[in-house]
Amino acid sequence: MMRHPQVPQGCQLFAHKSIGSTSEEARRLAEEGAPDRIVIWAGEQTSGRGRHGRQWTSPPGNLYHSIIFRPDCPVAEAAQLGFVVGVAMASAIRALSDIPVVLKWPNDLLIDEKKVAGILLDSADDGAGGVAWVIAGIGVNIENHPEDLPDATDLRAAGATFSVEDLIEAFLPKLFVRLDEWQRDGFAPIRYQWNELAMAFASRISVKLPDRTVTGDFEGIDASGNLILRHDGRLIYVAAGDVFPVSNSATGVS
Ligand code: BTN
Repeated sequence: MMRHPQVPQGCQLFAHKSIGSTSEEARRLAEEGAPDRIVIWAGEQTSGRGRHGRQWTSPPGNLYHSIIFRPDCPVAEAAQLGFVVGVAMASAIRALSDIPVVLKWPNDLLIDEKKVAGILLDSADDGAGGVAWVIAGIGVNIENHPEDLPDATDLRAAGATFSVEDLIEAFLPKLFVRLDEWQRDGFAPIRYQWNELAMAFASRISVKLPDRTVTGDFEGIDASGNLILRHDGRLIYVAAGDVFPVSNSATGVS
């Protein structure tokens, strides 16, 4: 049985027991002209989508929701919303528990190097260099995670006792505070908070780029949201790629 969560003023939440994808439903509504801060939440998804065209397995027990934003920003800055959302979700989980959840670039949350949540961004431009809408779809493994994914975990396994509804109620107020801050003060405060909540600086990571894989030390994100990687004593700035934590001391380029 789903309880209707309390949501902050200026936000409207639509709850579905089951849906194909909350992000697809949000996109449909955005294209029909739905306003800023509409949240679509579902108890389960039958066609959940992940990044890079992957499937997001979505049985009951976890959080699946998508939020429509209509930010006043150039298209080039729309991806910053992924960091706004990540900061709010990591802070919400930490506020409800003492689970040491951390952020992994660009849009994942990890517990002990295993993925517990992911964020999927969709956007449309307004034809004049601005953004018509951005949809952030957020999936958080609360009660279960796909057994066939060795690098995935869930919050229950880490000791969490809160419900999906509790997490929504902790997350949305934080999200809209961070969103207002981003609109008012730009990316700098979000960048600072993201770096504070990120995996430890100097952690070994591998970054899969389109043409090669580079291993080095994680050094946070820069003023544009690029990943900073220290490799062979110099800094590499990565705009797009897949990051994998490296537990041993391997280094190099392949
Ligand atoms: C990722 O690949 O890490 C992003 C996963 C995003 C999953 C969420 S669940 C709610 C929303 N609806 C979808 O179909 N996908 C996103």
